[in-house]
Amino acid sequence: MDFKRNILITGGAGFIGSHVVRLFVNKYPDYRIINLDKLTYAGNLANLKDVEQKPNYAFVKADICDFGAMQETLRQYRVDGIIHLAAESHVDRSIKDPFIFARTNVLGTLTLLQAAKEYWESLPEGYEGKRFYHISTDEVYGALQMTCPEGKENPISAHKVYGDAFFHEYTKYNPHSPYSASKAGSDHFVRAFHDTYGMPTLVTNCSNNYGPYQFPEKLIPLFINNIRHRKPLPVYGKGENVRDWLYVEDHARAIDLIFHRGKTADTYNIGGFNEWKNIDIVKVVIRTVDRLLGRPEGADMDLITFVADRKGHDMRYAIDSTKLRDELGWEPSLQFEEGIEKTVRWYLDNQAWVDNVTSGDYQRYYEEMYAGK
Ligand code: NAD
Ligand code: DAU
Repeated sequence: MDFKRNILITGGAGFIGSHVVRLFVNKYPDYRIINLDKLTYAGNLANLKDVEQKPNYAFVKADICDFGAMQETLRQYRVDGIIHLAAESHVDRSIKDPFIFARTNVLGTLTLLQAAKEYWESLPEGYEGKRFYHISTDEVYGALQMTCPEGKENPISAHKVYGDAFFHEYTKYNPHSPYSASKAGSDHFVRAFHDTYGMPTLVTNCSNNYGPYQFPEKLIPLFINNIRHRKPLPVYGKGENVRDWLYVEDHARAIDLIFHRGKTADTYNIGGFNEWKNIDIVKVVIRTVDRLLGRPEGADMDLITFVADRKGHDMRYAIDSTKLRDELGWEPSLQFEEGIEKTVRWYLDNQAWVDNVTSGDYQRYYEEMYAGK
């Protein structure tokens, strides 16, 4: 069967990638979607059970650092578009073991870029009709000051904000963690391939995502699971750090829009206009889990346990995504309260998924990481 487009999505078995694969497979039956994933601890094909039998879906198990495998996949599937999400994504892991972050995020991205360059340049039409879309993070911009610790109204957001500055597309890169340094490195390589070879690239920098299928090492799913089992909730430092939260399906919608209509060589920031202090998020999550489990609301507040701060912990992230709104008409569709309710419900209804991904090696790693906290 001939497809209108052949799109390679890397990291499609992970959290955000699985939502992007599902959206594209269902929305574009005339596109072939090739999900390429190494299936690390964070990659789980169970995330895609509902689409794996579709005729326009294919899976390739490969490491993005394997140049031969990248060349082979691009040629075999005649790939004309790449949405690159494969990465090591957890900041705490990058603090413990930075090398794997440099390998996957920097060298892996470079490997994929070089393979795409050689393949596309070998075709008669060259780069025409091609696109290399790299998914990055707001963490590359560094940390914003918390100039209004009590929070204040702000014209760009219906939600209260905790500072006067925001991350814009032109904000200078200033990464602090090995994770964000590796993502910054990969972003620079992507832009360099446009500037040097004319590859049609695009980069987006998104804020914190939440929703179904997120690995329970990240704040929201970890805490939902711990509350359910009445285990301590390790809040780093004083819990004052601020993140800007976006429901994962809204990120996937933005990726679809930008992949199709974003300007080549451009950058778009994607954010929820939704700043929260960690401690306030934790309280919302506790109340929601308690209510849905039929416990008195707030009964589990005693699980909050303040632990040593994350090393180099960025104080505040806040994205200004007005460019994306004004140019392409994207806005987050869900209010946070609604998104959290959906998310908590999903984790409580899918305990088997959580048990599966938190068993074995991961569980041992987790116990070691938090030993003594
Ligand atoms: P994730 O850790 O849930 O998934 C990463 C996926 O990449 C997994 O399926 C894993 O198996 C795969 N992978 C890892 N190394 C690989 C390799 N060498 N070769 C092939 N596949 C490999 O990550 P996520 O949270 O879904 O994030 C996806 C992307 O979005 C990342 O690039 C991340 O930097 C970026 N991002 C994440 C967030 C967030 O809040 N989660 C926000 C902004 C940007
Ligand atoms: O901003 C986008 C980034 O968001 C993505 O690029 C990363 O891939 C993603 O992991 C996420 O990074 P964070 O470090 O912000 O997410 P995490 O869920 O690990 O932590 C959110 C906040 O909660 C952060 O301030 C640290 C704090 N935290 C986290 C954990 C896991 C705790 O207080 N306790 C915890 O146990």
